[in-house]
Amino acid sequence: MASSTALEPAPIPTMYFVGVTTGKSSIMRVFPKWSDILGLGAQIKGYDCVLHAPAEDYFRIVRHIKNDPLSMGALVTTHKIDLLHATRSEFDYLDPYAILCDEISSISKRGTQLRGHAKDPITSGLSWEAFVPQGHWGKTGGHVLCLGAGGSAVAISAYIASRPDPADRPKKFITVNRSAGRLETLRDVHKQLDSDIEWEYILNEDPLKNDEIMAQLPPGSMVINATGMGKDRPGSPLTDNGVWPQNGLVWELNYRGELDFMRQAERRTQQDNLTIEDGWVYFLHGWTQVIAEVFDVQLTPELFAQLDAAASELRPAR
Ligand SMILES: NC(=O)c1ccc[n+]([C@@H]2O[C@H](COP(=O)([O-])OP(=O)(O)OC[C@H]3O[C@@H](n4cnc5c(N)ncnc54)[C@H](OP(=O)(O)O)[C@@H]3O)[C@@H](O)[C@H]2O)c1
Repeated sequence: MASSTALEPAPIPTMYFVGVTTGKSSIMRVFPKWSDILGLGAQIKGYDCVLHAPAEDYFRIVRHIKNDPLSMGALVTTHKIDLLHATRSEFDYLDPYAILCDEISSISKRGTQLRGHAKDPITSGLSWEAFVPQGHWGKTGGHVLCLGAGGSAVAISAYIASRPDPADRPKKFITVNRSAGRLETLRDVHKQLDSDIEWEYILNEDPLKNDEIMAQLPPGSMVINATGMGKDRPGSPLTDNGVWPQNGLVWELNYRGELDFMRQAERRTQQDNLTIEDGWVYFLHGWTQVIAEVFDVQLTPELFAQLDAAASELRPAR
């Protein structure tokens, strides 16, 4: 286990960031600015765990937050499923999305209650709405190909299933994952959703096969890189020869790292008329929603715009 921070009693209100390479995240530079804007007088500390870390690593951080008065809460990335599986018994409240998706991205406290929220169905939805044109799926008949079946795939699919207008839902959502367990978890979530979307699950980690699956997508389809490849691990789930859907939407969930998948798409932007979105807007919504929960802040559109402007000054070059 690699932990980037010692878990000592916090001297001032402290929010933790549970991830893999937290020190490299823009939030470390953005948070102090946001703390000033919001008047929090707070600090942020990273807590790095290896992928699929042992349960005791997750217990250590959750118990620390629970017992230390000035440890206010945490944003959890990458470990959203594993952390909840290990520490569920510590929580007094889980929100309905946490129960549906079996993951948490937000740990907060209210009085003596330790609370877990799955914010990703909301924050991935806000990010989706920022770049997917209204009625896109009705107009194009495109499908979604989601590479990776982790917490983000669960969240995104839960969000799209909740879209009321059929023109705002793809007819088909294909998920590819390298291990069977995550596909089973996703299938269980989808069974609980009252949705007319056709869900397909493919067990695969061969980039050549992913190319074949992508080549069969109708025009206007969306391809999502939810594997973490290009940031958490090197490479891309596709080869350089992948054929992108014409007029397609490409969503790389990360905004930092080598971003090989996004670079592959960028080389075809003009020819295939691709709309490419990285994870920056997702990052902004993800953090602001969890900070609002942890510090009990009312997040208005005006406040979000102020936080967005402050963060954008610190955004890494693309
Ligand atoms: N911009 C933002 O604010 C933001 C928000 C959310 C997520 N993200 C990023 O998005 C990525 C995904 O997040 P997550 O929470 O969903 O992570 P996760 O729970 O770790 O899920 C990743 C999934 O991808 C699978 N996978 C890895 N390589 C694969 C391959 N080559 N082919 C097929 N499947 C593969 C993994 O399979 P195994 O089960 O076998 O490991 C795992 O199920 C992370 O890098 C995260 O940092 C960014």
